Amino acid sequence: MVDTTAQANSLPRHVAVIMDGNGRWARERGEDRIFGHAHGVESVRSVVRAAGELGVEYLTLYAFSTENWSRPQAEINALMELLVESLAGEVDELARKGVRLRSTGALDSLPDACRAALRDVEERTAHCTGLTLILALSYSGRWELTEAVRSIVRAGTPEVDITEETVRAHMGLPDVPDPELLIRTSGEQRLSNFLLWQLAYAELHFTTVMWPDFREDHFRAAVHEFRGRERRFGRTGDQLRQAQAGAESPAP
Ligand code: IPE
Ligand code: IPE
Ligand code: MG
Repeated sequence: MVDTTAQANSLPRHVAVIMDGNGRWARERGEDRIFGHAHGVESVRSVVRAAGELGVEYLTLYAFSTENWSRPQAEINALMELLVESLAGEVDELARKGVRLRSTGALDSLPDACRAALRDVEERTAHCTGLTLILALSYSGRWELTEAVRSIVRAGTPEVDITEETVRAHMGLPDVPDPELLIRTSGEQRLSNFLLWQLAYAELHFTTVMWPDFREDHFRAAVHEFRGRERRFGRTGDQLRQAQAGAESPAP
């Protein structure tokens, strides 16, 4: 059936995802939390495929937060091993599909093997011009903002010259546009310290689907729903519709 829902917005250039619910998904099956993380890898593959096919330019995945360092050491180790394995296992396919890998976060705090695996995939996909896949690792929004403030102070920027653009320029990936859409799985409805600056005007999509069950269709549905949303940016609905009508009418 053709879906005729009105599409007010163009495709998001950047989609960010809080991949949540791995532990509960595993527990529901009587398995260890790590089983859930391992199954989440297929969801990552699926979402990378969907984003690439749709023509989304940037996909940022929250893979490990600053706060996640407080999890049991065995779970942290398993997550780090899974990261190394997945990076090594996927690099050829990513390069074949033209996917460029980048990362953001306090990467110095990751184990050496993770840093090496990340560096390897980043180098081997640096030439790729399709989807940019960004992994947020040992990341938190407050960490990134604090780093930006430090960097501005180090640069000696006079106070009067500090604008929003200055702050933006000192963020982790200043060349990446802000996400227009944030997806969070597992029914939780919070940001958990993700991209606090960049998500200022993002549309939020919460789904009860657990991350290991999340697939291409869920991603496409979230993008479709986003395209039907009215994004006002502080204006009234009438102003917005007038602006849209103006943009659509042929030049005189
Ligand atoms: C998300 O799933 C993965 C990470 C945070 C690394 P969780 O591990 O948070 O799973 P739940 O939320 O406990 O179910
Ligand atoms: C957010 O999920 C972090 C990642 C998905 C990597 P959490 O499961 O850690 O978040 P909280 O603890 O429920 O806020
Ligand atoms: Mg969680």
